Amino acid sequence: MSRVALVTGGSRGIGAAISKTLKDAGYTVAATYAGNDEKAAAFTAETGIKTYKWNVGSYDESAAGLAQVEADLGPIDIVVANAGITRDAPFHKMTREQWQEVIDTNLTGVFNTVHPIWPGMRERKFGRIVVISSINGQKGQFGQVNYAATKAGDLGIVKSLAQEGARFGITANAICPGYIATEMVMAVPEKVREAIIGQIPTGRLGEPEEIARCVKFLVEDDAGFVNGSTISANGGQFFV
Ligand code: CAA
Repeated sequence: MSRVALVTGGSRGIGAAISKTLKDAGYTVAATYAGNDEKAAAFTAETGIKTYKWNVGSYDESAAGLAQVEADLGPIDIVVANAGITRDAPFHKMTREQWQEVIDTNLTGVFNTVHPIWPGMRERKFGRIVVISSINGQKGQFGQVNYAATKAGDLGIVKSLAQEGARFGITANAICPGYIATEMVMAVPEKVREAIIGQIPTGRLGEPEEIARCVKFLVEDDAGFVNGSTISANGGQFFV
């Protein structure tokens, strides 16, 4: 039986590339999405990957959704916490709603996704957690106090889970993508985006598949000694 992988936000952008790459590698994949039924249906029709709709910001919805995935496909061995949103604004204009929405999805969403299935992973003595953080969690970003806070927080989650899970065969690692050619980055004003590309030594945006290949490496059965690490995939834009 192939291992079951769950990818949150797995039907679009980087998440879609991760879902497809894992399926091609032989995993049984479930992808979650938050809102766009039509796009999710098209994704399932194109890839054969089952999609599930829930809000990762809600613990109850996440727990129920995860239980449904396990009832359909079997115990979840691999979690890729990828779902994320931006609500960019300079701090003096940032509203409490913009702060809270980003915290709920990008930070609490990781807790909500991993916590309900953590006991099962401990019992089965195997688990792979990959959290998609961001270059902007490492370096901060003008206009992203909320987003950078969550992505830095995600690194704290990973480094702590890595220590707690290690003796149960569970690893937790983070990937910090730089600027990748997705709708999220295309939503950045063109002038700002061009300036950012100018700061990337590789001279281009990354491709979603370049992040997906990092995930594939981290979730393999024989990657057990890679634990608590952060892979920076950013075209050389920022070194830690
Ligand atoms: N550095 C320094 N100053 C900046 C700046 C920057 N990066 N961006 C804007 N400013 C300045 C402006 O020049 C302006 O100054 P003046 O008033 O003196 O002219 C001032 O800040 C206010 O600018 P705006 O009026 O343009 O502010 P705004 O309310 O329109 O908001 C913004 C601007 C939302 C921050 C916009 O610049 C933006 O969207 N920036 C992109 C932020 C970003 O990189 N987001 C990443 C999204 S992709 C992602 O998150 C994926 C990932 O993980 C990498």
